[in-house]
Amino acid sequence: MIFNQSQFIWGTSTAAYQIEGAYNQEGKGPSIWDHYFNATPEGKSLESGNVACNHYQKYKEDISYLKDKIPNYRFSIAWSRVLPNGIGEVNAKGIDFYDRLIDELLAAGVTPWVTTYHWDLPQALQEKGGWTNRDINSWFEEYHEILCKRFGDRVKNWMVLNEPSVHSYMGYALKVHAPAMASESAYFKAVHNMNRVIRNGYQNLKSHSSVFSVGSSYTLMPIRAASENEKDKRAASVYQSVWNENFYAPLFTGEYPENLRPYFEKYIPSSAVDQVKTQLDFVGIQYYSPLYIKHDPNAFLNGDFGKPPEHLDKSDIGWPIEPDGFKEALKWLDKRYCPEKIIVTENGIALNDKPNKDGQVDDQKRIRYLEKHIQALHEAIEDGVPVQGYFIWSLLDNLEWDEGYDMRFGLIHVDYESEEKKRTPKQSYDWYTNLINQYNKGVS
Ligand code: FCB
Repeated sequence: MIFNQSQFIWGTSTAAYQIEGAYNQEGKGPSIWDHYFNATPEGKSLESGNVACNHYQKYKEDISYLKDKIPNYRFSIAWSRVLPNGIGEVNAKGIDFYDRLIDELLAAGVTPWVTTYHWDLPQALQEKGGWTNRDINSWFEEYHEILCKRFGDRVKNWMVLNEPSVHSYMGYALKVHAPAMASESAYFKAVHNMNRVIRNGYQNLKSHSSVFSVGSSYTLMPIRAASENEKDKRAASVYQSVWNENFYAPLFTGEYPENLRPYFEKYIPSSAVDQVKTQLDFVGIQYYSPLYIKHDPNAFLNGDFGKPPEHLDKSDIGWPIEPDGFKEALKWLDKRYCPEKIIVTENGIALNDKPNKDGQVDDQKRIRYLEKHIQALHEAIEDGVPVQGYFIWSLLDNLEWDEGYDMRFGLIHVDYESEEKKRTPKQSYDWYTNLINQYNKGVS
């Protein structure tokens, strides 16, 4: 059996900003997303995470859906809940929240997987330059130290960052995510500092305990040209670096991809000598769909998102459904860099699910998506790719960043209109928990 029951890791993922709410409660400081949605004209016109799923109050109910059913849970810690200014004074109530959450998980028999950073930098650190400031390494050291001291006795699995590619590109080049910047130099500096933090963060966390298993999570997306046109093909090769190689190449080889190296040298003279190669305990990869890239002379690095082929089925967010792309991406990473251990830390589909008249959410399309992607994963493992775990994005419907609340990725429906943010497990929740159960019994 490929998904060996005693070892294969089944789980679901979430992220603090997308579910917690309580954005200004019990001493929490603002993050860049709080600032973006509440204090900038672009952000104010969008739906914010101020209340989100109110997981901050409802975490016990949320964990009850995992108990005896989904053995692993990946969540992130909101840095500015723990350290309202990013560094300095600790917010006792904020850190207590994660203490209770972790204890509740362990009491439910669920293994916690902690992402230390899922895009929500404390605004106070943004005001010091955020990811463009090299001091970010020492800010992380202080933050990591606090997390290790408080949770290191109970948390073994850590991820330093979530998807640095999306965070740097959307936040520093495209201006559609916080901190809403569009600057070539800021983008390259942010990328480089993210790579520095992954290495440094890995070392800091590991120095706390040798039993820690420390990785970091990355997008893994096949990049395709939107047409056969030479210009589109060139743009696609640049975007292969923006999405994938700007992070995998430094991680595994210590060097930036050749086609973007001149930019790194221009903006960060030390980029060729700074240490960025890291032997992570596992590489977290996140796959949703391939990306189709077209040439655009007015866009960042002359490339932009193009249209996926008409004939492909799409999710409600417009991403093409291509399970073969999952297998292709895993095999590409394996062949090119031979990682020792891969964990799929996110995979899932956005559908604008609504309960039917009986209050059920019959999300057959999600079930089919997951079935096909788990099958593709199975095939990649049979071909020798060392994948040891799979987490679905997401446990709950949540705020899909600048896309709002209609893009529902959850196995559990959240009724945002209701006062109590009512949860309703979807058919896919039953399907997934049943699948885990079957594997654990060894009958699949
Ligand atoms: C990933 C993010 C996650 C979620 C999914 C749909 O890029 O890590 O927070 O938004 O996409």
